[in-house]
Amino acid sequence: MTRVFSGIQPSGEMHLGNYLGAVRRWVGEQGAADAVYCVVDLHAMTVAYDPATLAERTRRTAALLLAAGLDPSRCTLFVQSHVREHTELTWYLNCVATYGELRRMTQFKEKGQGQESVSAGLLDYPVLMAADILAYDTDEVPIGDDQRQHLELARDVAVRFNHRFGDTLVVPRGTFPGVAARVMDLQNPTAKMSKSSESPQGTLLLLDPPAVLTKKIRSAVTDSGSTVRYAPEEQPGVSNLLEILGAATGRSVGDWEAELDGRRYGDLKDATAEAVVELLAPLQERYATLAADPGEVDRILAAGAAKAESVAAGVLGRVRDALGLLPKVTG
Ligand code: TYM
Repeated sequence: MTRVFSGIQPSGEMHLGNYLGAVRRWVGEQGAADAVYCVVDLHAMTVAYDPATLAERTRRTAALLLAAGLDPSRCTLFVQSHVREHTELTWYLNCVATYGELRRMTQFKEKGQGQESVSAGLLDYPVLMAADILAYDTDEVPIGDDQRQHLELARDVAVRFNHRFGDTLVVPRGTFPGVAARVMDLQNPTAKMSKSSESPQGTLLLLDPPAVLTKKIRSAVTDSGSTVRYAPEEQPGVSNLLEILGAATGRSVGDWEAELDGRRYGDLKDATAEAVVELLAPLQERYATLAADPGEVDRILAAGAAKAESVAAGVLGRVRDALGLLPKVTG
């Protein structure tokens, strides 16, 4: 069976980009693949964060994933820091990855820019991500477009490791959605939708009430001109709404272009708002139930960590052997 692995940061909130770019496919892969999903709390520590809220944000993110449709009987859902193998493998891979390739990573350059002191963890972020993936003999990694470079690094490191120490690690491939691989900010459609956006109006959160979703979509920045046409370079705002509309309804962008031919931008916005509200309604309902029972979420995560650990422990055993470490004799 194909092994699928992916991860998400514990922001405690999830936006439509996360959902359409990645999480919706995580839900779809369950059952058809051996699916392993992780809330990556260790990655959240690479920039300044609030330790008082990390645990709660991690739990909320897991609850959101369950509300989105992850089913613990058909996938493995766990928290990164609960499985020590991730940090152990990170060290081994640190000795294979190079400073040069990490320094050139776009995310490192963007997040580190202008900061007086940048943590070594931020530089090492992609190696921890490679360890996440490689610790599970992963075949496929469903991610959005913004994680493409990190996935390439994981592949490069795996190939180099195998070349140096013998065939040990499975070289994974990324999978990307045909539409909405990069959902853009509604207020600034040349930047990706993100939790850290300057304007909260530009980001559609999965738990935004229907009226808020509708208001944000109605005030989306559109382009000069008036035709509803898919042309990401010339009409990024309209094209982004068309992609969201297509992805939310399961119909192609071309289909919607034809349907809205000769109509106004307002009609495009109304259709998009309606589709997004409808798409998220069942998720919002399920979240309300899960949020009322944090103990249940914690139990699901504990069982997930045990399952994940048993897989990762086997891979790490192989890795230690390949590296030539002296085995620890027990008993
Ligand atoms: P994160 O938490 O930023 O995002 C989670 C997933 O959502 C996708 N995504 C988007 N897709 C489309 N449009 C957008 N605007 C958008 N914003 C985010 C991301 O591509 C991602 O798939 N480094 C990762 C987490 C991670 C990981 C891993 C992923 C850690 N270890 C191992 C895969 C495998 C991250 O920060 O994702």
